Amino acid sequence: MIYLNGDFMSIEEARIPVLDRGFIFGDGVYEVIPVYSRRPFRLTEHLRRLQHSLDSIRITNPHTDAEWGDLLERLIAANEGDDQYLYLHITRGVAKRDHAFPKGVAPTVFIMSNPLLTPPKELLATGVAAITASDNRWLRCDIKAISLLPNVLLRQMAVDVGAVETVLLREGFMTEGAASNIFVAKDGVLLAPPKNHLMLPGITYDVVLELAAAHDIPYEVREISEYEVRTAQELLLTSSTKEIMPITRLDGKPVGDGSPGRMFAQLYQLYQNYKVTVMRGNTPNS
Ligand code: PDD
Repeated sequence: MIYLNGDFMSIEEARIPVLDRGFIFGDGVYEVIPVYSRRPFRLTEHLRRLQHSLDSIRITNPHTDAEWGDLLERLIAANEGDDQYLYLHITRGVAKRDHAFPKGVAPTVFIMSNPLLTPPKELLATGVAAITASDNRWLRCDIKAISLLPNVLLRQMAVDVGAVETVLLREGFMTEGAASNIFVAKDGVLLAPPKNHLMLPGITYDVVLELAAAHDIPYEVREISEYEVRTAQELLLTSSTKEIMPITRLDGKPVGDGSPGRMFAQLYQLYQNYKVTVMRGNTPNS
């Protein structure tokens, strides 16, 4: 079951007019929200980021947080599996093709749910390979825009060589991954790039830094140079669907000793524990 503009229906039934500005211009924004035990994780934060994306491209939020919460709850109930991920997609709507914003057009709202398949234990035990590439995206990477062509091309560069992610470098500094945030660990310190217009403010990124702070793991939020990436003892990747993963090879060379390190092990465990606590309702899942 999916949700499209007021109605619940099967995905096969769903139809979008070809003049939808999402189709024509990639003129829209999206969110990806993980659901554990049928409860959306960090819902308030995801809806806040959605609001930021909508404000940034000047689309009026079609729903209040309470309405979003209600729609998502109904969609979760209508789909199989306790662990799902929700994909929310809002475009500027349907109008005759013209770059300028159309007047009086309602946004298109689409939500779907898919099974959440977090990385298998075997993959976490070895870690994954990544490559680096020059970050050639625009200068508003803080907007979760549906126009993902640069991200698609950058991620495919990794897939083409059997790697899972592309670590992006801009003017000598690391920004993020093509579809994830990236952390560096060095001498027991977790390094995170600062949130700005060059990266998506990841919800998982925030959880990781909160866990580090709460458990006395030293961390620094600051610009991370290409040299620090290449000489990292550990590289970690985070996203709502991949949670936390160790990158153990970069551009064909081992990261640190080439196996997942202690920072990963500690943060992964803390993340799993935190999820369980949140699911049991013992900790506010904001
Ligand atoms: N992507 N940076 C980029 C460019 C991303 O696309 C994502 C997530 C992240 C991580 O953000 P979060 O922790 O909030 O998921 C960082 C989602 C999962 C996607 O496009 O499918």
